[in-house]
Amino acid sequence: MPLTNLQARDVETLVHPYTNLATLRDSGPLVFERGSGVRLYDTDGKDYIEGLAGLWCTSLGYGNEELVEAAQQQMRKLPFTHLFAGKSHDPAIELAERLKEIAPVPISKVFFCSSGSEANDTQIKLVWYYNNALGRPKKKKIISRLKGYHGVTIASASLTGLPNNHLDFDLPIANILHTSCPHHYRFGLPGESEVDFASRLAAELEAMIVQEGPETVAAFIAEPVMGAGGVIVPPSTYYEKIQAVLAKYDVLLIADEVICGFGRLGAMFGSTVMGMRPDTISVAKAITSAYLPLGAVMIPETMYQAMLDESRKIGTFAHGFTYSGHPVAAAVANKTLEIYARDDIVGRVRQLIPQFWRRLDALRDHPLVGEVRGVGLVAGLELVADKANQRAFLPKQTVGAEVAAAAQREGLLVRNLGDTIALCPPLIISPSEIDELMDKLTRALDRTEAWANANGLKK
Ligand SMILES: Cc1ncc(COP(=O)(O)O)c(C=O)c1O
Repeated sequence: MPLTNLQARDVETLVHPYTNLATLRDSGPLVFERGSGVRLYDTDGKDYIEGLAGLWCTSLGYGNEELVEAAQQQMRKLPFTHLFAGKSHDPAIELAERLKEIAPVPISKVFFCSSGSEANDTQIKLVWYYNNALGRPKKKKIISRLKGYHGVTIASASLTGLPNNHLDFDLPIANILHTSCPHHYRFGLPGESEVDFASRLAAELEAMIVQEGPETVAAFIAEPVMGAGGVIVPPSTYYEKIQAVLAKYDVLLIADEVICGFGRLGAMFGSTVMGMRPDTISVAKAITSAYLPLGAVMIPETMYQAMLDESRKIGTFAHGFTYSGHPVAAAVANKTLEIYARDDIVGRVRQLIPQFWRRLDALRDHPLVGEVRGVGLVAGLELVADKANQRAFLPKQTVGAEVAAAAQREGLLVRNLGDTIALCPPLIISPSEIDELMDKLTRALDRTEAWANANGLKK
């Protein structure tokens, strides 16, 4: 099909994130025009149900007038002022107070930024700063996990444990280490129980810390449930064992709650659901339901005291973005958090979980599906060539992309992370919309299975 005018203008002007820029020149992008509730509409008027809440973020869906109104009011009153050099404004103060109130662990202060990547970059800087303040200049290494996703800036992309984020970008930077991915289905040994797998990973982490020298290891960063690496749920007892190792060697735990935060797993924070007691927390995405960019780092008192000491010594805390605590983004975040509390978003998610999982459980028998995993309203379906022995398709067979394309034709937006299909619908999805989503997904899986059989991919 020839490109439409908008598509042609797009490929001549835009660089698209996470896109094969070469094939896009022929296919052109899917151009959306508007959104309402859990649906997006393209320029031909075709509607799509949002299976991934945008990028795991539009928890209140599209067209939320209260958020629009909050932004509009703040824009009129004070569209911008900053937090540098002792300046402040009401929306940022209120938002910090709200976050302290709902934090899953005691939090002393909040630092604002505009994205998850910036939050995690800030985490690294604060951990380094903290250890310098404590007179431990060698304690700087950060341990992340293979398949972890923490962003794309130089430091956060280094934390990210996915090959394409490093390849030819000359990453990771020094002082970032990666430990094993806690995915039992793929990395458990034959006959190894989940609990034994968790013990093995904790022992591996300990061996890594000891080998590097505990005096050089500063922090461990983890998403409660791993998102972009394939929706991976660590096995039972994993965090308990990992945290015992971290405590033994005085290594901080950073929770990356950028996807799991704000109700997704059935509690306000994923840490609570997964048994994590982090020292510090990164949030972004659903903090504004993605209506405006905003991220935050939630900082404990011990780290804040170290920052105070450094400020006394150096004369300033020399970190911050022009848009740290942007008043319009903060006003939208305040309204978002108000709606979550008023509408009991966590309770709503808990009510939806049984139906979401009833429909997902039914897909476990699908010939194309090897594993269905997830927690709350986030799930991943891993596609396999052979269910019996868990044999994966070859990456070049692009079966995951085929399911995502088939779903798109059905009017459903999902993301394929390799051969895992990720689902993360807006939290406002209704029971009938869950059924519609699952019906479309099932048809997409059926069509792709027929295609895979016809092309001899399942032999
Ligand atoms: C867990 C996690 N951390 C960090 C990020 C990076 O956030 P951003 O894309 O806003 O920089 C993401 C983005 O998907 C994420 O899922």
